[in-house]
Amino acid sequence: MTLSNNIFYPVQEDLIKLNNNLNKMIAAKHPILYAASEHLFQAGGKRIRPTIVFLVSQSTMKNQAILPEHRRLAEITEIIHTASLLHDDVIDDCPTRRGINSVHSKFNTKIAVLAGDFLFAQSSWYLANLNNLEAVKTISKVIIDFAEGEVKQGLINFDTTVSIEEYISKSFYKTASLIAASCKGAAILSKCDKKTQNLFYEYGKHIGLAFQIVDDILDVTTSPNILGKPSGSDFKNGNLTAPLIFALEEYPELQILINREFQNKNDISNTVKIIIQETKAIQKSKDLAQEYIQNARKIINEINCNITKRKLLPISNYIIDRIK
Ligand code: IPE
Ligand code: MG
Ligand code: MG
Repeated sequence: MTLSNNIFYPVQEDLIKLNNNLNKMIAAKHPILYAASEHLFQAGGKRIRPTIVFLVSQSTMKNQAILPEHRRLAEITEIIHTASLLHDDVIDDCPTRRGINSVHSKFNTKIAVLAGDFLFAQSSWYLANLNNLEAVKTISKVIIDFAEGEVKQGLINFDTTVSIEEYISKSFYKTASLIAASCKGAAILSKCDKKTQNLFYEYGKHIGLAFQIVDDILDVTTSPNILGKPSGSDFKNGNLTAPLIFALEEYPELQILINREFQNKNDISNTVKIIIQETKAIQKSKDLAQEYIQNARKIINEINCNITKRKLLPISNYIIDRIK
């Protein structure tokens, strides 16, 4: 990674503080609840969402001096993300995450669900304590979106008629909503005007959609030891993502495998992955991610602030570089 696309470099110290604080913030009275909540935080994760919050915060403050409220927002964002992962791994029956056992495999499903609820509740409490009604309204909407997104996704499992538009809508609920709302939240705390706040929301939405498309490409093209979770797991659960939707257009016979829910032994590990690689599906998915990245760049230019451009453009490079 070169310095120009190392988005973590300008926020290194902020991330160290964030990690220390997260552990204190999720303290629970019950040791099992604490152990379960802490399990995923300890395993790390890329911390991409708090990094984006820090960069937006720096770019909208005089002398780039971020406020304690910005830090709290970055922490809340990571807590919400982790809560959603706890629930998502239960729903997807995913055994590993961030290179370790997922919470429901280490403990059990009930504990994973309760720990997810606990983290959502903790995040709401810290959010309320920001004492900023606009920020509360913006961020709390994300938790509604997650639940809607999971249900929407569940309803279209293994549905071969799913369109790219539906895929994008679902990706908004599960990923882009949080990134969009946290960018806007940072701009609210910086007291940016309404128009700028909304531009940051749109920026985060486009970045978030590109991030999800890239994540879905990696699920097809990368090995589990690099992903830290099983690969091909989207398909196993009937979650038909961009690479498969594009491949279906070129190779309708894939429907047979989807209709039998990939029940045969090598349906995913060999057949589907090889067929996808033989079509233009990966390239088309990369182009789609690029489109959202280009839109995000246009929005940054509309914000018309040189510091914002300098701070935020590397985020788009980072996302796209993951699939280079
Ligand atoms: C994974 O997010 C789930 C999505 C919504 C794409 P990340 O890829 O950011 O997961 P961590 O936090 O780095 O583990
Ligand atoms: Mg899922
Ligand atoms: Mg994925």
